Amino acid sequence: MNTFFLPGLIDVHTHLRVPGGEHKEDFRTGTAAALAGGVTMILAMPNTSPPISTLEVLDQARRQAAEDILCDVGIYAGASPEHTAELPALAPKAAALKIYLNDTFGPLRVEDVPTLRACFQTWPRDKMIAMHAEKQSVAVGIGLAATYERPVHFCHISHREEIELIADAKMQGLPITCEVTPHHLFLDEADAARLGNLGDMRPLLGTADDVAALWEHINDTIDCIATDHAPHTLEEKGSDSPPPGVPGLETSLPLLLTAVSENRLTLERLMELMHHNPRRIFDLPEQPDTRVEVEMTPFTIRSADMKSKCGWTPFDSMEAAGKVVRVVLRGKMVYEDGRILAQAGNGRLIA
Ligand code: DOR
Ligand code: ZN
Ligand code: ZN
Repeated sequence: MNTFFLPGLIDVHTHLRVPGGEHKEDFRTGTAAALAGGVTMILAMPNTSPPISTLEVLDQARRQAAEDILCDVGIYAGASPEHTAELPALAPKAAALKIYLNDTFGPLRVEDVPTLRACFQTWPRDKMIAMHAEKQSVAVGIGLAATYERPVHFCHISHREEIELIADAKMQGLPITCEVTPHHLFLDEADAARLGNLGDMRPLLGTADDVAALWEHINDTIDCIATDHAPHTLEEKGSDSPPPGVPGLETSLPLLLTAVSENRLTLERLMELMHHNPRRIFDLPEQPDTRVEVEMTPFTIRSADMKSKCGWTPFDSMEAAGKVVRVVLRGKMVYEDGRILAQAGNGRLIA
C-alpha cells in the first residue's frame, strides 16, 4: 500500500496571527501551510493583537478570513477578565472559547476565579471550552468540568503528570478531552538544547520520560493530535526576547506517518486522532467530497519547502516516511505536488 487516501485532516489548534501579527503569518499563508500538510479545516487561536475577546475584533478577523482563507477556518474567542460581558455576543460567531491559565505568547490570561465562573456560566453549553493548562492548572480545569458538568478540552498536554491526571479523571467519567502536539511527541529537552530558540515553545519540550508517557497514552487517553502551529519570524526567534512557539501544520502528518510505518500507531488510530475525534469533540461540519492523497515515500523535511510565512521548521533535516501529494476540498483540487491550487475564498468560515 504505497498510495492511499485520508479524510481532510482537522487541526483544532493553530495561530494564524490575524489581526496584528501578519508579518508572521496571515490567513492566506496559514491556510496554504494547512493544505500542504493535508489539513482542510483549522481552528485559529485568539491570542492576536488585539486579542479576539471583543465582538469588534472577532468581526474584523472574520471579515479578513472570508477574503483570504484557502481551507475552512473557525475562530476561537479568548477569555479575558475585562470582557466577560461580551461572551454571549461572541459565542454565535466563534468556534469555541479559549482560556489561558498559564503564561505564554501575548497578554491573554485568566488568573481569577470570578472570570472562570463567568466563562463556565455564560458560554453556551453546546460550544467547547479549551484550556491552555500546564501541571496543576490541569487540575483546575478538571475541577471546573466537574463543577459545571460540562466538557473541557485540554490543549497540548506534554507532561507525564498531566496525561496521568487526565487518564484518572476520564476513568471517573468526567467530560474531558485532550490533544497532544507533534513536537511534544517527536522532540524532547535534548532537542531543545540542540535547537536553541527554535526549540522554545509553551509548554516547553519535556523529558524523554514525558515523551514516553504521551506514547503510552496514544491509543486511549489522547483524543486528538493538534499542531499548535505558532509561527514567529527567524528574526524574532534570534532576538534578545525571542517569542515562544514553533510552526507545525506542514510536518504533522509526515511525522505521524513515520510513527505508523514504525508500528507506533495504526492508520485507523491516526484518522481518529486527526479527523474523527476533532470533528466530534468540536462538533464541526462535514466536508463532502474532500480527501488527502498520501504517498509512503521517505523524504527529508526542509525549512526551504515550507509554505508558512515564517519559513522554517524545528524538524528541518528529519526523515519522514510519507507525504501529501494531492488534496481535494469539496470536489476541487486545492493542492498538488507542492503547489497550492486553491483560490482565496475557497475556504469557508465555521460558526
Ligand atoms: O509556544 C507557544 N506559542 N505556546 C502558546 O501557547 C502560544 C504560542 C504562540 O502564540 O506563539
Ligand atoms: Zn497554549
Ligand atoms: Zn497555541
